[in-house]
Amino acid sequence: MTLIKTIQELQKALAPAHAAGKTIGLVPTMGALHEGHLSLIRRAHAENDLCVVSVFVNPTQFNNAEDLQKYPRTLDADLALVGDLADIVFAPSAEEVYRIPATEHYDFGPVEQVMEGPARPGHFNGVGIIVKRLFDWVDPTRAYFGEKDYQQVAVVKTLVRQCGLKLEIIPCPIVREASGLALSSRNQRLTADQRATAANIYRILKESRDLQTTDTQKIIAFVAREIEKYDLFKLEYYQIVDGETLQPIADLTAAPTAVGCIAVWADNVRLIDNIRYK
Ligand code: PAJ
Repeated sequence: MTLIKTIQELQKALAPAHAAGKTIGLVPTMGALHEGHLSLIRRAHAENDLCVVSVFVNPTQFNNAEDLQKYPRTLDADLALVGDLADIVFAPSAEEVYRIPATEHYDFGPVEQVMEGPARPGHFNGVGIIVKRLFDWVDPTRAYFGEKDYQQVAVVKTLVRQCGLKLEIIPCPIVREASGLALSSRNQRLTADQRATAANIYRILKESRDLQTTDTQKIIAFVAREIEKYDLFKLEYYQIVDGETLQPIADLTAAPTAVGCIAVWADNVRLIDNIRYK
């Protein structure tokens, strides 16, 4: 694996692969890598001639200064974890990425107007900016994204469609701790006790699938009530949406797929998770 820090070096390193018509799998990350990221990287490695992992804590997608400042940065450990699963780790500085100022404005339409969209103003525009730039620099055959960030996958698919890009977006399943807690770089900021409590998020989501109703208001009320039993948690939202359009549905029978998406504050750490109802 080669560590590359500049766009010019990256493009130079990829030129022979492009010229030879090789397939390139890209896994965009913000580092502090864990098994969730590694599941994407393993897949990109297995399915492509070349695997490129980007590690960049992207300032333009943070709507909260404290979250950006406290975001874990562990490049040496990340490189050790990735090892030879990746051919290239691209870890640029913010100066390098934003030498061209971030003036792009994306409009992803309805998929960004729900859940994380209103909760984190500017977040998806920042994701769009960095992901589009990475796609331009790497020109991958496939790019891998985790369903942990369910709405992000929908936004990135919209970006690809709107920009007429040729690459394939590969959504990958959520990787969880044995406790059920979805792996997240932000989990590092939880104490052991908080982490144990945080496992209840997925337990509650799973239990909500066993309710004998298809009325989403009833399911949402159950989840809200159960979450609020824990002093640690403050529920930001729980919504049940059409798995394709991401628009809220009143009844599970109203769409071919239905996904419940949650954002919960555990003290000052924001956790997201989701579960499929159908
Ligand atoms: P980051 O949070 O580092 O996540 C990088 C990728 O790993 C995302 O596609 C995310 O969905 C996936 N991922 C994280 N935890 C996962 C888990 N437990 N199971 C499966 N996949 C998981 O998402 C971002 O970075 C950024 O927004 C990025 C796309 C890199 C743009 O800056």
